Amino acid sequence: MEKKQRPYAIQAYDVKKHFGKTEKNDGPGLNGLTLEVPTGSIFGLLGPNGAGKTTAVKILTTLLKLDEGSAFVAGYDVSKEGHCVRSRIGLAGQYAAVDEQLTGRQNLEMFGRLNRLTLKQARRRCEQLLEQFDLVQAGGKPVGKYSGGMRRRLDLAASLIVSPEVLFVDEPTTGLDPLARQEVWQAIRSLKKAGTTVLLTTQYLEEADLLADRISILKEGRVIREGTPETLKSEFGGDRLEITLLSSEDVAVAAGVVRELAGSSMIVDEQENRISVPVSDRTGSLIKVASAFAGSGLEPKDIVLRRPTLDEVFIHFTGETDRKQKEGVSP
Ligand SMILES: Nc1ncnc2c1ncn2[C@@H]1O[C@H](COP(=O)(O)OP(=O)(O)OP(=O)(O)O)[C@@H](O)[C@H]1O
Ligand SMILES: [Mg+2]
Repeated sequence: MEKKQRPYAIQAYDVKKHFGKTEKNDGPGLNGLTLEVPTGSIFGLLGPNGAGKTTAVKILTTLLKLDEGSAFVAGYDVSKEGHCVRSRIGLAGQYAAVDEQLTGRQNLEMFGRLNRLTLKQARRRCEQLLEQFDLVQAGGKPVGKYSGGMRRRLDLAASLIVSPEVLFVDEPTTGLDPLARQEVWQAIRSLKKAGTTVLLTTQYLEEADLLADRISILKEGRVIREGTPETLKSEFGGDRLEITLLSSEDVAVAAGVVRELAGSSMIVDEQENRISVPVSDRTGSLIKVASAFAGSGLEPKDIVLRRPTLDEVFIHFTGETDRKQKEGVSP
């Protein structure tokens, strides 16, 4: 009989994992991770390098033991009921366990057999998955000859051999080209439609924005913000006024003008010659800024009002302004 659906497919409460603990320092790892992932949703765990995303995935998939706190997946305790957890999850990691010499079809059949399906069941499941992930044609080719996108899709398919309730995907599209990324996104969306709860980690804000129903922003092993992409954007200050200038000299002058009106939460993107500030009073702020410019003799290339991007939210909350701007991530 079907179990009653529980509200959360994944729960973590104050989970700690210390690597290299010292007297003064808790060390990196997880420093009190708390998460609740609604059943049937796609949840994005977002954070910079070393934030603890992979550590969280490893703990939730029972590959690593937590030091403190508690965590439950599909209702089972990861510390005490690891076996029950493992039989209900799938994991598609950065380092896929597929065999390059075998074809995609042979790999999937092998995973099926390893998961105790009969040969007939394994074959049937394999064909369904090849179909679902658009790999029917590629199924006969050795995996060594697959493109990055095809490989990642095969990896996802392999993690779904026994239809898990909960799927963990660690950085599904890192290193893929834009087209391959879209294919993987499509595959993840189709999983949600089929009822699987998906937790994905990513460093791409765009990815979290497009796919996730809810997002947790992780920093130094702890969730610093949680919400829907929309709430996170509005929490950051609602609309933004964005001014693009013609030259970097103009940016410096304009930054002075805008700072006086807007205060400290201004973001200056020197590569794009662009300044953006949060505004509460849309038209009022636009008029104020435009008339200040008229008085300064500056001629902006463009002035627009728009919703903040998740990039800005992330930069704001993780305090990564300098790095992102150096890398030329435009707001
Ligand atoms: N086995 C380990 N031993 C010691 N330190 C570790 C170990 N695994 C992870 N760490 C440290 O824990 C922190 C979190 O690492 P983790 O791999 O979870 O980060 P991440 O968010 O997945 O980063 P990335 O985006 O680079 O994949 C890092 O500082 C890392 O150096
Ligand atoms: Mg990682």
